[in-house]
Amino acid sequence: MEKILVRASKSYEVTVGCGLLAEVGSQLATLLPPPRHLMLVSDDNVAPLYAEHVQGALEKAGYTVSTFVFAAGEASKTTDTLVSLWEAMAKVGLTRTDCAVALGGGVIGDMTGFAAATYLRGIACYQIPTSLLAMVDSSVGGKTAVDLPQGKNLCGAFSQPIGVLCDPDVLGTLPEAVFTDGCAEVIKYGYIGDKPLLSLLEASFADDPVSIIARCIADKRDIVEKDELDNGPRQLLNLGHTGGHAIEKLSHFSITHGSAVAIGMLMAARAAVAMDLCTPDVPTHLEAMLNRYSLPTVCPFEAQALAEAALSDKKRRGSTITLVIPTALGESTLLPLPTDELADFFRKGGAR
Ligand code: GLY
Repeated sequence: MEKILVRASKSYEVTVGCGLLAEVGSQLATLLPPPRHLMLVSDDNVAPLYAEHVQGALEKAGYTVSTFVFAAGEASKTTDTLVSLWEAMAKVGLTRTDCAVALGGGVIGDMTGFAAATYLRGIACYQIPTSLLAMVDSSVGGKTAVDLPQGKNLCGAFSQPIGVLCDPDVLGTLPEAVFTDGCAEVIKYGYIGDKPLLSLLEASFADDPVSIIARCIADKRDIVEKDELDNGPRQLLNLGHTGGHAIEKLSHFSITHGSAVAIGMLMAARAAVAMDLCTPDVPTHLEAMLNRYSLPTVCPFEAQALAEAALSDKKRRGSTITLVIPTALGESTLLPLPTDELADFFRKGGAR
């Protein structure tokens, strides 16, 4: 078992260990002693697999547990679902000293975190991520949100959880494609700033998932501690995401987040080499790594279309866009670029 302490505006521990799900009651009890009322939030993919088990472990520890289960998928990450969740919390009488428990992937974690941050002006939230992506990224760092029709994550809050519990055993029930998607975010940490992680990943994720997941979380922790509110270095976590989000959008989300980020990272690395900002070994190394983890490497869209899609992001402002580029193996930096040079950047990255 590994523990990573995150010292943000609130400090909390992320605990990673195989079989930890069975211990969720005693783990939470060290943070919020029972009796308390918990709202266990999940979706209709994850709940049938784990909700009963988790609810049982929490009740055994002395908690009262209500459940809220919604339809799986990004389409549920809406203000309508959020209102239903707030109302469910109010109906069972959750008070300020009670807690929301998110059991699932990124959609569940983001939405439960936002509901907890706003219900009664803020109650505690405990995260139990069940996807690789949620374990290494979205459950840690306090970004919570729902989508609006105008774009993803447009309404949310920075609100840190009281704790995060990751049990890699649950990854065994993930569909292959969802697991592979998470691998892109794992790989990302190596190229942002963790060269030793790249060596671990050259062996196999399956050799030591606990160490690899814990290492990614510690990498994210180091960045979040420097810039919790995402005004500077936290943007490094977006390596591959400018191109990636454009690819997701142009594919009408048939290309998944991790696959799109994989292609986006490779484009950023190739463009950085073409601009003499990166050593040429990086794209070669990255392409081999993406192949090893069965992630795609070819961008199916034209550079101009990618730039237009990237620049239509409602959260972006001004005439420059901040990109993340690798500079050497295990090193990266932020690159402010005039928006009218973005299509050329993607062209240098290999898009037509
Ligand atoms: N997922 C990127 C971040 O937490 O900033």
